[in-house]
This record gives sequence, structure tokens and C-alpha cells, in this order.
Amino acid sequence: MQTLAQTLTSQAVNDSLTALLLTLADTSKAISGAVRHGALAGVLGATEQENVQGETQKKLDVITNDMLKDALKADGNVRGLASEEEDYVVEVSKQGEYLVCFDPLDGSSNIDINSLVGTIFSVLPATDGALTEQSFLQAGRQQVAAGYVLYGPSTMMALTTGQGTQFYTLDRDSGEFLLTNDKVAITPDTAEFAINMSNQRFWEAPMQTYIADLLLGKIGPREQAFNMRWIAAMVGDVHRVLCRGGIFTYPTDNKNPAKPYKLRLMYEANPMAFLVEQAGGKASTGYEDIMDIQPTEIHQRVAVILGSRNEVDMCLSYHGEDY
Ligand code: AHG
Ligand code: MN
Ligand code: MN
Ligand code: MN
Repeated sequence: MQTLAQTLTSQAVNDSLTALLLTLADTSKAISGAVRHGALAGVLGATEQENVQGETQKKLDVITNDMLKDALKADGNVRGLASEEEDYVVEVSKQGEYLVCFDPLDGSSNIDINSLVGTIFSVLPATDGALTEQSFLQAGRQQVAAGYVLYGPSTMMALTTGQGTQFYTLDRDSGEFLLTNDKVAITPDTAEFAINMSNQRFWEAPMQTYIADLLLGKIGPREQAFNMRWIAAMVGDVHRVLCRGGIFTYPTDNKNPAKPYKLRLMYEANPMAFLVEQAGGKASTGYEDIMDIQPTEIHQRVAVILGSRNEVDMCLSYHGEDY
């Protein structure tokens, strides 16, 4: 089986991006170790701090953020970084060619129940001049690589450098990520959806109607039964979609009018959209492709509808003629 480094060589990925991706892979191995030791390492539970998102930080949110930050500072190819757990962008190396945006630990509510968590990352080209928040405000189409690492029963990485989406599995004996699927392909059709149903009464009308039609099953307009899954960690739900198809959505809701969206564009939606599109799927807000959004701030949130192409198109057809 090919190692991650061998696959990146066969894809003719340049040396600096290869080095950066190997740094991210190495750090995720260390994170996998911390997550695996759980209560034995004293890493479970919450801190007393809130992040810029208004969420109470778990100890592992902070630990994994620091691990990634330290590794990217030592890497030499990184101009700057932005993280879900950092208030402001962080300048790294003047000569670095890349910007890295990351969600160091996705699915934090799963930590204390020993359930699925992961790390999500997005790599953008650095721009000329001083490093500011503005340097990061590039549409998802500009990403040169994106991926996630899932700390599940096995530790797996999904990665794209724009040449399809690949899966790697961490071999604990050799310590290498080995290529276990060189061409991930999302089935165009599906009978499985993922949404937090407890928010149903807060969704907009198009999503209400779309999900209601799925729930009607064979007696509804779709004339088929749909199954539902919700892991409460986007990495887990998107991984399932990449493995066996499905539609995943965290739609607009009016639960808290000041915060109509949950998922973060730069750390969650864009990297997942890149992986999904490269696997033949689709990722939209309901009104435009996720990767076409011109970001206005690094911590911006968006509505997300992604997965099997035909099912996403079906959902979008409920959102109006204009799409
Ligand atoms: P994070 O743990 O990085 O803050 O992200 C959690 C996100 C995402 O992973 C997941 O899909 C969603 O929040 C879960 O939301 P609910 O709590 O509504 O289930
Ligand atoms: Mn969080
Ligand atoms: Mn997250
Ligand atoms: Mn997170």
C-alpha cells in the first residue's frame, strides 16, 4: 500500500505543500494518541474559557489547537493560520507560502461520551503583503488542499489536493497513513439523510417541506423510505456520506436570530465542500455553491447542504426557481 508521502509524490504535489500536509498528518497522529488515552491522560472535560464562537472550550479543544499551532509554526511553509479556537489570525513565517484554517477538534460534544471526533483543515495560498484577516478571505475555490482526520475505531484521513478525494488509514505498526481508497466516489442517489431534527420548528419553509417529504416515505411525493443518521460531529457525518452516500445538512434556523447558521465557512464548510465536490458530490447553502462564497470574516458561519449530487439538487429545488 502507498504511504501518504508516496501518493503526494505520484500526484506531483510540490515540496512545500507536501511538507505541510505531512506536518498536519504527523500532528493528527499525536492528537489521535491524546484522544485515545482519554480519561487516563486527564484530557476530558471542559475549561472555564469561552472561544470567540461563544462556546465553552473543552480541554481537548485547547490542547489540539495548541498542538496544531506549534506544529505549523515549526513547519516553515505556513504564512499564517486561523482556527475555530483563536480569536484572531496568527502570523507564522514570513516566507511561508500557505495559509492554514482549521477546526482542531470537531464534534467536541462527543469527547466526554467517548464518541466520534476529528480534525478538519483547509489550505489556501498566501497572498503578498502584510498578513491580516483579509489575507484569509478567499473563496473556497482557492483552496489548494483540504482534509480531515477522523479519530474513530481506526484513525483515517480524507484528503484532496484537487485530484479526487483519497482515504488513508493510520497503520499503528508503521506509524504511516496508508492509502486505502484512491478514488472516493459519492453515490449520486441516496435514501439517507442527516439533520438535527430537534431544530425542525426553527427551519425555513423550504427545508421544513423537504424533510417532511422525506419523512412521508413511500406514501409521500418521493415514493421511497428514507433512513436518518446524526453523529453530531460533522467529520463523522461527512465521512459516512463519502463512504456510502447521503445528504447532510445544517440549515438556516431562527432558534437564535442573531446566529442563523451553525457551521463555520473557513474551518468546516469549505474544506468539506472541496472533499465532497472532488468525490463527485455537491455542497450548497441552498442558494449558492459553498465554495463560491466570498468570505467577509474568518469566523463567518453558513448554511450547509452537501452530499449525493441528485439528492442535493432535489433539496435545492425546494429552495426556489432561481437556483
Ligand atoms: P465543533 O465541535 O467543532 O464546535 O463543531 C460541532 C458542529 C458539527 O461538528 C456538528 O455537525 C454540529 O456542530 C452538531 O450540532 P448539534 O449540537 O446541533 O447536534
Ligand atoms: Mn466548537
Ligand atoms: Mn466543528
Ligand atoms: Mn471544533
